[in-house]
Amino acid sequence: MKYTNLEKTLILIKPDGVQRGLIGEIVGRLERAGLKMTALKMVHASREDVDRHYALTEEWMKGVFEKAKAKYEAEGQPFDYADHIAYGTEIKNGLINFLKSAPIIAMVVEGEKCVSLVRKLVGATEPASSAPGTIRGDLSHDTYALSNAQNRPIRNLIHASGTVEEAENEIKIWFTDTELYKYEHVNDRVQYDPTWFLS
Ligand code: CDP
Ligand code: MG
Repeated sequence: MKYTNLEKTLILIKPDGVQRGLIGEIVGRLERAGLKMTALKMVHASREDVDRHYALTEEWMKGVFEKAKAKYEAEGQPFDYADHIAYGTEIKNGLINFLKSAPIIAMVVEGEKCVSLVRKLVGATEPASSAPGTIRGDLSHDTYALSNAQNRPIRNLIHASGTVEEAENEIKIWFTDTELYKYEHVNDRVQYDPTWFLS
């Protein structure tokens, strides 16, 4: 394979994305960005798969706690959680149950610096705050306030790895080596081959 330094990232279309009939729209947006699909399947995840996928740390709990608290405070609303452990544990449990409740789509895409690129295409965690043009911002509108009031995870359609290291670990959870395809796509030449069009 000629183009060796391309990143890979793991994307899941969560149960709300599948149920809302947005598989094609989401896959289409990733393809239109020039990314190459190297693995794609539907899976009804087990508790074990999801536990491995969301092996969330205390650091992650601090992050979700601070993000939600800041949003509530900006809106002048009380945020009634004692600390990041209380909030983070509740989010984590809800998220694990949600992700294994119905079929999801798992896929791997490949491209130059695609981990951060895909996060940009996906948008912010809370759909209502996600920028227009992003998957979450255009196709969903859930809020922290509604999801917390209903005691359920935010319905934000999609998961995408946050870092290259996270992507490497997450890809191994959802795909075996033989399910990860290596192939030449016509876009590879157009996007990455310096000799393209010279000859
Ligand atoms: O998915 P993303 O990386 O944007 O967010 P995260 O902070 O890593 O949280 C993982 C997932 O937990 C989110 O996508 C939401 O589905 C869920 N979550 C939630 O339901 N409520 C929160 N306050 C924070 C996260
Ligand atoms: Mg994350």
